[in-house]
Order: sequence, then structure tokens, then C-alpha cells
Amino acid sequence: MSKGFTLWFTGLSGSGKSTLAERMLAEFRERRLKVEILDGDVIRTNLSKGLGFSKEDRDTNIRRVGFVADLLTRNEVICICACISPYRSIRDENRALIGRFVEVWTKCPIEVCEQRDVKGLYAKARAGALKGFTGIDDPYEEPAAAEVVCETDRESVDESVAKIFAAIRRLGYL
Ligand code: ADX
Repeated sequence: MSKGFTLWFTGLSGSGKSTLAERMLAEFRERRLKVEILDGDVIRTNLSKGLGFSKEDRDTNIRRVGFVADLLTRNEVICICACISPYRSIRDENRALIGRFVEVWTKCPIEVCEQRDVKGLYAKARAGALKGFTGIDDPYEEPAAAEVVCETDRESVDESVAKIFAAIRRLGYL
């Protein structure tokens, strides 16, 4: 039986975190592995309901996600997290807590995320109707040493998935 690990996606809104997280979920399920997903949009409707987007609230959100990811990981579950997680220090805190941690940066120019604007939030942020939007008027601290960098504007989903599997195997987690 494989031991658990956490696959931690980080990146701007619209950079492809959820898409890749869902694909990895399907890949692991196909292999009959125990897997759970903690997606930012879903977490914010339950575990982190009521939290906003100040630095303090984002840090609280990401610490909660890390806490649950640690519980799952140590019980031999693969835990996929997909939150913007804009602050490097909290990501690293979770990395230290969890240990078996694979950081995947969905790297995509903000212009492309904005063009995709899947949820229409970039338009709102540009219009000033949404304050403190990541990448517009709120920071995103790029990872310094992510295990995987997926350039989602240049590579296909399949290529990104292959890169992620290669890293997981290289680390000996699968
Ligand atoms: S995080 O910063 O705490 O990691 P999280 O991933 O949970 O963020 O939630 C991000 C999602 O919340 C975005 O995909 C978007 O749908 C929504 N959202 C609403 N307001 C903001 C904001 N000010 N900045 C970023 N995302 C926002």
C-alpha cells in the first residue's frame, strides 16, 4: 500500500489549479489509491466559511487546509490541495508540518488568467468592485523551490499531469 503525501497546488485564480487537481484526482482513483481533494472554493463554503481575503484570513484558511492535509497524509491518503495560497511562509509552514509534500505551481501570466476570467472576478476587480484580488491589488508570492512548475499557458493538461507524476515518482511517493 502506498503511503500518503500532499499534492499542493498554488497559483493565481484561473491559473489551472482546480483543473489539474481534478485530473490528478481521477488519475489516482483509476489506480485505486485513497485520495481526497481540498479545493479552495469548496473549503470556503464549509471549513473556512466566514473567512475573507485579508492576509490574516487567508493565512488562517491555508493553515486549516494544511492541518487537514496533514491528518489525511499521515493516514496514508493522497491529499490534493488547490488554493491560491499566495503567501510563501504559510506554504512552507505546511510543507514542514506535512513532510511528504509536493508543491505544484500553476504558473500562468496574469494577462492569460484575466483573459480566461472563468468566474468573471478579474473584470470585477479591474472595475474596482472587488478589492484585494490576488494579482491585481493583493500579492502573490511566487514559489522559490516548487517541485513542479506547470506553465499552463504553454503546456497541455496531459503534459502537466505527466510532469506531476514524474516528480511524485522521483520523490519515491508512488
Ligand atoms: S486563498 O488566498 O485563501 O488561498 P482560496 O484559494 O481559498 O484563496 O480562494 C480563492 C477563490 O476565492 C478564488 O478562486 C475566487 O473564486 C474567490 N475570491 C473571492 N475574492 C477573492 C480575492 N479577493 N482574491 C482571490 N480570490 C478571491
